[in-house]
Amino acid sequence: MLGLGLARVAVRAWAQPVAAAVTASASAAFSSQAAVAAEKAAAGEAKRPVDMTDEEIMEAVVNGEVKFFDLENELEQDYERAVRIRRRIVDDQISTFVDAKDTLADLPYKGFDYSNIHGRCAENVVGYMPIPVGVAGPLLVDGTVYQVPMATTEGALIASTARGCKAITLSGGATTAITKDAMTRAPVLRLESLSEATKFVEYIERNFEEVRAQFESTSRFAKLVSIDARFAGNLVYLRFACKPGAAMGMNMTGKGVEKALAHLSENAPFDFDVMALSGNVCTDKKFAAINWVEGRGKSVSADAVIKGDVVRTLLKSSVKSMAYVNYCKNLVGSAVAGSIGGQNAHASNIVTAAFIAAGQDPAQNVESSACLVTMEDINDGQDLYVSVNMPSIEVGTIGGGTTLPAQSACLKMMGVHGSGEDGNNAQRLASIVAATVMAGELSLCAALSSGHLMSGHMKLNRGPGRRDHDRLAGVAEKANL
Ligand SMILES: *[C@@H]1O[C@H](CO)[C@@H](O)[C@H](O)[C@H]1NC(C)=O
Repeated sequence: MLGLGLARVAVRAWAQPVAAAVTASASAAFSSQAAVAAEKAAAGEAKRPVDMTDEEIMEAVVNGEVKFFDLENELEQDYERAVRIRRRIVDDQISTFVDAKDTLADLPYKGFDYSNIHGRCAENVVGYMPIPVGVAGPLLVDGTVYQVPMATTEGALIASTARGCKAITLSGGATTAITKDAMTRAPVLRLESLSEATKFVEYIERNFEEVRAQFESTSRFAKLVSIDARFAGNLVYLRFACKPGAAMGMNMTGKGVEKALAHLSENAPFDFDVMALSGNVCTDKKFAAINWVEGRGKSVSADAVIKGDVVRTLLKSSVKSMAYVNYCKNLVGSAVAGSIGGQNAHASNIVTAAFIAAGQDPAQNVESSACLVTMEDINDGQDLYVSVNMPSIEVGTIGGGTTLPAQSACLKMMGVHGSGEDGNNAQRLASIVAATVMAGELSLCAALSSGHLMSGHMKLNRGPGRRDHDRLAGVAEKANL
């Protein structure tokens, strides 16, 4: 779309006399400036983009003299100006196809520190997306109280999760366990035959310590846990699992895999081709049973006992009906649907909102949201036992989006910014996410069990203009959200 549009604008500009080779948005004043510039250019005095007017730069981009994606560098890191000019180019381009003007006007771009993201987090930048951030809490997890930031535009989600948090906290809190911690990468290698492939894997098993040393030489923190092989004829997928410390670990694991493969290629008595560094058995950002069974990132479980009176007064339900809703919806319903990892009501709602707030990769919600919920009446039916089991929560507290100021602030709110004194902040974040998911499950299952879901949504989602917090809180209270 972009290339096509620019080409079309460029053709239109070229069809005009050189001195007036301007885009539709150029003013008469610009025409004379362009004439001067054209004269100078003809005289061999090339002007640097920083010395050009916005309109001249736009023309230079249209003519291919300045690269659209490289405006920041061309303007010597005057980021906001680069973004402003890019927006005008895009708007001009759009208006040649669509009958609309100033289409980007409501997308903000001012006052954002682009130096943090340039060359790292985003390209072709035209602004930033404001998403409201709310808090769900207080949530008592493993003896610490948290307010969990959630970035979302789904009305009622934060209020509902907050109610679940309160239920957990009033009942004595959640306990979590990290049962596995390893990021995975599985390159696909091609050997001559299946038997060569199996012999190669036996060789790797015999030389595991050597491969591990190579793998771990690429990072101070990487710890190679295992290499799991899967075969498809002469193709072999080596699923490397690496304990990554505070990083989410994809970069780290990828680097280690590259090093290990280079070593094997030089030293192992086998000929193999690396068809792809990721052979999809990893499995990243795609639904796959292997993550559900083997885990990826942090495998986390959390549980709590919700007191009967909290279920009645705060969740406005009963222990028995909540356990039964969990049974017929999260367990039987998902079995009927043939679901793998969908044994929950809405784990992805909480995972995604928390991921966006905390600078995680929201695309990894695909596997990070896999969750099995259990609910059981205990103590002679007095109290509700609840657990969530999430085998592949992929989070880090360093690197990626966690370095940006707003995302850092959200991590700091939870006390998990950076690696942490013991290096365990990423595990802690995974525990918080799992416990918050449990809060979301409790609140939604309670609402479903008492038939209040639709009325709550209707009241909270009535649209703009209804921003009175006290009133919303009142509605949430009445609607059991
Ligand atoms: C991955 O590596 C790049 C390049 O070093 C870095 O900028 C980025 O923050 C890393 N991503 C994560 C999630 O750590």
